[in-house]
Amino acid sequence: MKKILIIGSQGMLGQSLVKILSRDSSIPVVTAARYGADYNFDFLDDTSLCECIESINPDVVINAAAIVSLQHCESESGMAYAVNTKLPGRLAELCHELGCYFIHISTDHYYCHDWDKKHLETDKITIRNEYARTKYLGEQLVALHAQNLIVRTNIVGYRNNSLKPTFLEWCIQAFNRDEEMTLFDDFYTSSIYTDQLCIVLKDLLQIRPEGIVNIASSTVSNKEDFILALAKKIKGKEPRYKIGKVNQLLGVPRADSLGLDVSKIEDLVGYRMPDLEKVIYDIELDYKRMGY
Ligand SMILES: NC(=O)c1ccc[n+]([C@@H]2O[C@H](COP(=O)([O-])OP(=O)(O)OC[C@H]3O[C@@H](n4cnc5c(N)ncnc54)[C@H](OP(=O)(O)O)[C@@H]3O)[C@@H](O)[C@H]2O)c1
Repeated sequence: MKKILIIGSQGMLGQSLVKILSRDSSIPVVTAARYGADYNFDFLDDTSLCECIESINPDVVINAAAIVSLQHCESESGMAYAVNTKLPGRLAELCHELGCYFIHISTDHYYCHDWDKKHLETDKITIRNEYARTKYLGEQLVALHAQNLIVRTNIVGYRNNSLKPTFLEWCIQAFNRDEEMTLFDDFYTSSIYTDQLCIVLKDLLQIRPEGIVNIASSTVSNKEDFILALAKKIKGKEPRYKIGKVNQLLGVPRADSLGLDVSKIEDLVGYRMPDLEKVIYDIELDYKRMGY
């Protein structure tokens, strides 16, 4: 196989992609990031982006770069548009010119007020903030080209950057410090562990479907249930907590019912997506391995 280029290899998902894809020595992985990668540059520098992709001449490009902070997207909406909308559009264009397969990672931040509903790829979406707006517009630009896949997902994982802890790292830190946590019982997701998503993506390289596909856990759970299950698995007991409501938070308006229907991806790959128990099981395995 020719090379796979991972755009955004230092992020939470990017690190997982490198780890999972590199396990197979027949898949040559090339990385691009702001630092610490094979190619280091700002992705908004179009000359460097073109030079990188043309010199690698990859068979597959996976875009895991984004601005994911809702606050950052609100306060710097121009930058969010550049990274979450224009960049995936440009990558799809360059991949189309080179005849390579493009996988763009999008979001599930599109659904409101229907609790634990599992949303299909074709369901109507609601835009609550600049993150969702810029991600959705990014999907639209990618969809202008052929030979690409837009992945809607909800991921939890490790970023290994103490300055920017992920949701999972924040939970583990709170368990370890015995801090009281506020658990939202009105915020639903079908979160999948990053490594599990990457294994599905690796399998998709053999099939190369096009269009939009949800890749997520088969269980839709609220954050209270997710965090309690995680704490019981990792620490053997519940954390100290109180119940909160995501819909009573001040600040950036949020989507709250992010559950995804995974029947399309299950039909494509021919196996079931992990349920909540399996997601927590795999997170704990790596938690032990990494010695947090
Ligand atoms: N995290 C979630 O809960 C979640 C949920 C659903 C979907 N997703 C999607 O999953 C994908 C991966 O998210 P993630 O959580 O892995 O995000 P992440 O950890 O923040 O990784 C994104 C990476 O993109 C890089 N990046 C952004 N702008 C760049 C630029 N101009 N030049 C070079 N690098 C740039 C960031 O580098 P810097 O930090 O140096 O800027 C960062 O390393 C995104 O498409 C996101 O929308 C995430």
